[in-house]
Amino acid sequence: MSAFLTLYAGLAREGPGTPEDVAWAAEIAGLAPDAAILDAGCGTGGDIEALLDAAPHGTVTAIDQEGSFIRAVRQDWAADDRVWAEVGDMSDLKGEYDLIWSAGAVYFLGVTQALAAWRDALRPGGAVAFSHPCHFTATPSQQARGFWEGFETTDAAGIDAQVREAGYRTRATRKVADAGWETYYLGLCARAKQLRPRADAEMTKVLDAAEAEIAAWRAVKDETGYLLSVVKPA
Ligand SMILES: C[S@@+](CC[C@H](N)C(=O)[O-])C[C@H]1O[C@@H](n2cnc3c(N)ncnc32)[C@H](O)[C@@H]1O
Repeated sequence: MSAFLTLYAGLAREGPGTPEDVAWAAEIAGLAPDAAILDAGCGTGGDIEALLDAAPHGTVTAIDQEGSFIRAVRQDWAADDRVWAEVGDMSDLKGEYDLIWSAGAVYFLGVTQALAAWRDALRPGGAVAFSHPCHFTATPSQQARGFWEGFETTDAAGIDAQVREAGYRTRATRKVADAGWETYYLGLCARAKQLRPRADAEMTKVLDAAEAEIAAWRAVKDETGYLLSVVKPA
């Protein structure tokens, strides 16, 4: 396994978010207790428990392109037949769902592209809830823009424009709270501390990059972060 995966496959989640975010999105989406949910880009499955809390008689299909993440999900949820996890490409979904949940993964496809690709996978009345990089000021500093280097980042109005371009309407949005980032980074720091004493050159580079990311986020967190949007086809 690469140093990157050795670090990240050992985490409970691969990005910021809280169970409260999931509960809030489920309420806005009007999720029924027996809903069929897809977790697109599920990582190691950090949101599955909260998704099942929102739909206790429903199902969660968890998809990620990374095999080691899916193995972790299968191990954690082997005893629960409400959960199905598979390696797959989230741009090519099979099945029909009441909610497509995607935390911190839509930016790999682009908002408009992801929503357009997911339209046929939504049941009538279905919703998509996704968290996405967002600037919370009209004039983000160079440091804040640099935090998302390589990904085009806009503000809430810009994300809404991309949602509309895909033929959806935004029902509600909220900022992923700093607590969601701190929880994620706490797990990352703990895993880094375990790995640091025996780290080779490749692992040292990966750990240094993770620690630099945490410091960078703390410096810009008032200017930029994740916006959680709940959207439905227009
Ligand atoms: C930042 S992580 C977030 C993971 C998880 N949602 C969480 O919050 O812990 C983004 C995930 O998207 C997955 N991913 C990226 N592009 C994908 C694709 N085309 N199909 C499936 N998974 C993808 C990555 O492997 C990664 O696990």
